Amino acid sequence: MKRLTVPAIRRAKGGTPLVMLTAYTVRSAQLLDPHCDMLLVGDSLGQVIYGLPSTVPVTLSMMAAHGAAVVRGSYHSVVVIDLPFGSYEASPEKAFENAAWLLKETGAAAVKLEGGVAMAPTVRFLVERGIPVMGHVGLTPQAVNVLGGYGARGRTPEEAEKIIADAVAVAEAGAFSVVIEGVVEPIAIEITKRIACPTIGIGASAQCDGQVLVGEDMLGLFERTARFVRRYETMGDRIGEAARAYAEDVRARHFPGPEQIYAPREGG
Ligand code: KIV
Ligand code: NA
Repeated sequence: MKRLTVPAIRRAKGGTPLVMLTAYTVRSAQLLDPHCDMLLVGDSLGQVIYGLPSTVPVTLSMMAAHGAAVVRGSYHSVVVIDLPFGSYEASPEKAFENAAWLLKETGAAAVKLEGGVAMAPTVRFLVERGIPVMGHVGLTPQAVNVLGGYGARGRTPEEAEKIIADAVAVAEAGAFSVVIEGVVEPIAIEITKRIACPTIGIGASAQCDGQVLVGEDMLGLFERTARFVRRYETMGDRIGEAARAYAEDVRARHFPGPEQIYAPREGG
């Protein structure tokens, strides 16, 4: 199976919904890749992998290490990497340098950045210079210190208008797709109608052109989950059960057993 391309994702607007999950490691990439159109190396790895309080402390080198692992573990999906907080906001030039470095280090196809009207010139600058950009509007977790939390956005008409304007701005600037996170549903539907590229919803609407979830959330591996997560597995419970069984075997000297032991060679 040949790897999908960014233009193929863009062309999927209005068709069969696009499937996206986050992956941070080679094994999760290998397991998720055959079922996805896109894998996102999300800066949510800050909380999920590193136990950080938010995505704000995540660094470019963390994104590069995990991004390279996900590219190595996948052959089908388009791999998109989040630009971490502080790596792209100051200027389009700085964004280009950091995004280009990330793509060189990892082999990923595209970057994602948070923001709307204010970031549109940066989106255009990157796209015109060969870096595909996915937008991200609505609840933008890197802005947690401004927003004050992770509650749903767009409950007032003014806020709704602003989120729609943000999505239109990044789409018109050349984004190949836009994530809409944590907004009241009519906003997601309106944006999906208004912009020419696919919308990817998370806590948004089934009418988006695709959906994304954090892999660990969907698998029941992360302890806290938002309202918009559906748990398809309870991997956390299963891992705990496996560790409990192992501990019991060790303490009873039932592990290792004969199959796990190296016997000396006959006559050796
Ligand atoms: O970092 C992340 O996992 C994300 C998705 C939830 C969209 O940005
Ligand atoms: Na993110």
